[in-house]
Amino acid sequence: MEKLKIAIASDHGGFELKGEIYNYLLNKGYIVKDFGTNSKDSCDYPIYAKKVCYEIINGNFDKGVLICGTGLGMQITANRFNQIRAVCVSDTYSAKMARAHNDANVLTFGARVVGLGLAKEIVDTFFETDFEFGRHQKRIDMI
Ligand code: RB5
Repeated sequence: MEKLKIAIASDHGGFELKGEIYNYLLNKGYIVKDFGTNSKDSCDYPIYAKKVCYEIINGNFDKGVLICGTGLGMQITANRFNQIRAVCVSDTYSAKMARAHNDANVLTFGARVVGLGLAKEIVDTFFETDFEFGRHQKRIDMI
C-alpha cells in the first residue's frame, strides 16, 4: 500500500507541538512535510491553514494536520474550501468518527488544549481509521 502523505503546519501557538507531531508521524512511516511556521514568533494562522489546504486540493498530499492555540482558527479557515473537511478534535472518539463517518481530510487541534500524549493518540486514531462509505458518502455529497 502507498504511504499516506501528510501536510502539517501550525501558527506560533502550535509550533512546539507541531515539531513533536511531525517527528512522531515521520517515525511511524508516513510521508510528512512541514509547511511552517518555523519559529515561536507571532504569526497569522490563516496563512498556514491555506498552505496545507492548497497542497491537498492540488493532490500533492492526502491529508493535513493544523495546530494552533485552540485548533479553532485553523478549522474555520480550512473549512472555507469546498474540498476540505476539517475537524477540530480533542478526544479519540471524535477523531475516529470524523474519519469513519465524515471522511475528514484535515485534523486540527489546539496546543493549549491537548497535551502531547493525547495529541499522539488523536493522530494515531485519525490516520488509522478508514471512511465507511455507504450512507455516509451520500450525506457528504449533500454538504
Ligand atoms: C493565537 O494567540 C491564537 O489565537 C491562535 O493560535 C488560535 O488559537 C486561533 O484560533
